[in-house]
Amino acid sequence: MNYVEPYTGGAAIALALLFEEYASTIHINDLSRPVFAFWRTVLDQNKWLCKRIEKVSLTMTEWNRQRAVYDKRDSADLDELGFATLFLNRTNRSGIIAGGVIGGKKQAGQWGLDARFGKLGLIERIKKVARYRERIRLYQSDALTFTKTVVPKISGKVFLFYDPPYIESGEKLYLNDYGIEDHRALADSIIALKKPWVVTYDYAAVGHNLYPAHRRMVYGLPYSAQDRYDGREVMFLSNGIRLPEEWNYSGTFALTPPRSAYPLYGKMEGMKARPEMVEGSEAATRFMSALKTVLSVPKAAVPNPFKKAEKKPRRPSAPKR
Ligand SMILES: C[S@@+](CC[C@H](N)C(=O)[O-])C[C@H]1O[C@@H](n2cnc3c(N)ncnc32)[C@H](O)[C@@H]1O
Repeated sequence: MNYVEPYTGGAAIALALLFEEYASTIHINDLSRPVFAFWRTVLDQNKWLCKRIEKVSLTMTEWNRQRAVYDKRDSADLDELGFATLFLNRTNRSGIIAGGVIGGKKQAGQWGLDARFGKLGLIERIKKVARYRERIRLYQSDALTFTKTVVPKISGKVFLFYDPPYIESGEKLYLNDYGIEDHRALADSIIALKKPWVVTYDYAAVGHNLYPAHRRMVYGLPYSAQDRYDGREVMFLSNGIRLPEEWNYSGTFALTPPRSAYPLYGKMEGMKARPEMVEGSEAATRFMSALKTVLSVPKAAVPNPFKKAEKKPRRPSAPKR
């Protein structure tokens, strides 16, 4: 099975599926040059990258140096940028650039910038990814273009997972140039795919009526004071895919194992798929042809169900003798 992630970021799911042998090949795409540079370096400059990790000093001087490389991300050397991306991901709060360095610039906090930089663990993981390089295809393309040009050429069984940037995100977490019209254009091309897919979003996607004819699973933390899912997110599902049995029951189901520290609950919403439902452009063609048939019938030929039936003339009774 070819597993495809057009907005790959950290590629956590793709790699898990590869390592667990659910996917034979993973196709990971990200438009961001720093993200692409990181993966390119992992795959093509593995030894060099591991040496850099081993030798790097975890100080504010180094942090400033790596930040300067990142600030020139449009032109920086790809390998240097790949390393800078990894360095900042490990030394910044929540792994994001906007988060700032762990412990602050004065390094006076409880945790220092080295708190999440376990060198041995990182090297081991990067070496493991490189051992799978023959089964990893890396792309740097806009996801919409990628969907239209690369995805149709992937042969064999394909499953796609789209995790686009949020529609309403308080902070600028990732590269995100999308307006709602871009999200709609993306939805159109995903729905037209003849391959199974899932798409995840913040719940705002439902308010914007994206994927209105598809099932969706809403998920989030169990309960908050506002009587709603806290930090709700939504997963839209293509019609062809078979879901776990309990998802099909009405009500709420747990997505995490029992007694998990961060329980997540899900609930199905939206349209129920039926076997006769057809995906994508074929469905649109059938709909248009049905519409044409309906419109071609003269109005007079269609009985009006609201019109009162005309009284039938009474049969003359036989004359009394
Ligand atoms: C919500 S994140 C995905 C996170 C990913 N699922 C993970 O677990 O790390 C969105 C990703 O999409 C990338 N991105 C943003 N706009 C893009 C676009 N137009 N085409 C492709 N990738 C894009 C960002 O660089 C970011 O890595």
